[in-house]
Amino acid sequence: MEQLVKTDDWTFADASTREYTHIYHDYPARMIPQVARKLIRLYGQSAKTLYDPYCGTGSSLVEGLLEGLDVFGTDINPLARLIAESKTDYSLIPNDLSNEIDNFKVAIYNKGLVNIPEIRNVDTWFKSGVLEPLGKIRYYIDKIQDPHIRRFFQVAFSETARESSNTRKGEFKLFRYAPYKLKTHFPDPYRIMSSKLDRNFKGYVQFNEMIKKLEKHPKATILSLNSVSDIPCRELPEDSIDIVVTSPPYGDSHTTVAYGQYSRLSSEWLSLINGENIDNKLMGGKRLKELPEFPSKFLNAAIQLIYDFKPQRALEVASFYSDLYSSIENVSKLIRKGGYACYVVGNRTVSSVLLPTSIVVKDFFETNGFEYVATHIREIPNKRMPKRNSPTNIAGETSSTMLNEHIVVIKKPQK
Ligand SMILES: C[S@@+](CC[C@H](N)C(=O)[O-])C[C@H]1O[C@@H](n2cnc3c(N)ncnc32)[C@H](O)[C@@H]1O
Repeated sequence: MEQLVKTDDWTFADASTREYTHIYHDYPARMIPQVARKLIRLYGQSAKTLYDPYCGTGSSLVEGLLEGLDVFGTDINPLARLIAESKTDYSLIPNDLSNEIDNFKVAIYNKGLVNIPEIRNVDTWFKSGVLEPLGKIRYYIDKIQDPHIRRFFQVAFSETARESSNTRKGEFKLFRYAPYKLKTHFPDPYRIMSSKLDRNFKGYVQFNEMIKKLEKHPKATILSLNSVSDIPCRELPEDSIDIVVTSPPYGDSHTTVAYGQYSRLSSEWLSLINGENIDNKLMGGKRLKELPEFPSKFLNAAIQLIYDFKPQRALEVASFYSDLYSSIENVSKLIRKGGYACYVVGNRTVSSVLLPTSIVVKDFFETNGFEYVATHIREIPNKRMPKRNSPTNIAGETSSTMLNEHIVVIKKPQK
């Protein structure tokens, strides 16, 4: 049976989630850094390596580094990887970075060339007045010699492009402002970019100072790998990981969080994608033709209930869990004997049927020879449940089905 460990200690209602490089960039369903920190301290006391198979912007990786661990992350969203790479990069010399930021603030107001890449439906998403300033910033960034500093600027530029666009603030999907709102919407990309750079610089300095205090300098490796497909041994050897700390997507990206859509405008401005829709590649992106039998009786029962009156919806749900199973199979191989996996998941409701993802994760790992340890319940403080955190894809809708998260902990037996 699932051992529920109900405790408020996981809520972190008043904690700042924007310390260190966590300040760099927003992202849907980011992990609360304090949750990752607590998991590493509880279950990774003797750990040297941490892996996050859905690393997103790298929240757990930053926390792993701060605890002195070598960290590995995989994600198929190139924007997420760019942010994660920058957030885990502590090699920048603060003085050099600060000089570059000062240079930028002067140079950008001088005459200069522009680089405006191909953006789909550019007139829908950008007013003509912001295209030139954004193009100038992009051109400036391309000329920055130091690749680490360039990436730091690219991350600030990603948020600048999004905030300079016509997409509504506070929504992760792309929703255009209403025409009356657009009449008074005049974002200033130079001002936005400068303030992001200043804000992120402070976070970097704080991060850099903490890492410098560590005895050993830990390493971060971020790979462009699909955790559902086999993970090549040369990238991540079997039995090499001491602790996995991760938060998988809640469901397929078409009906839950559309990471590809969230990232689209920035990714096009940074030329990270070439017209492809990455939402099709994310977990559950490919629809199954028939229902499989999962090694989880609660999941089979829940999917069957949906199937009885909405067969297509049940197949979508099943596609997501089928990918989750394959990815857990892969992750299981990478964890060393005695190592832990910590999965932060939400149990969402589809067509009024509760999908017990926390039990599913436990069942899937047990099928792969793991021992169940505990499920910590984290109540999501109200202030963190605004509409932008909604796991649904419906504009302005808040979630009523996910008022808490479950943190499932499983262990690979010693023998
Ligand atoms: C809940 S988010 C992770 C957020 C992350 N913990 C953070 O704090 O930024 C889930 C991530 O899974 C990624 N993802 C979805 N399907 C994937 C797959 N098959 N392989 C690797 N990453 C995937 C998405 O791109 C997204 O970044």
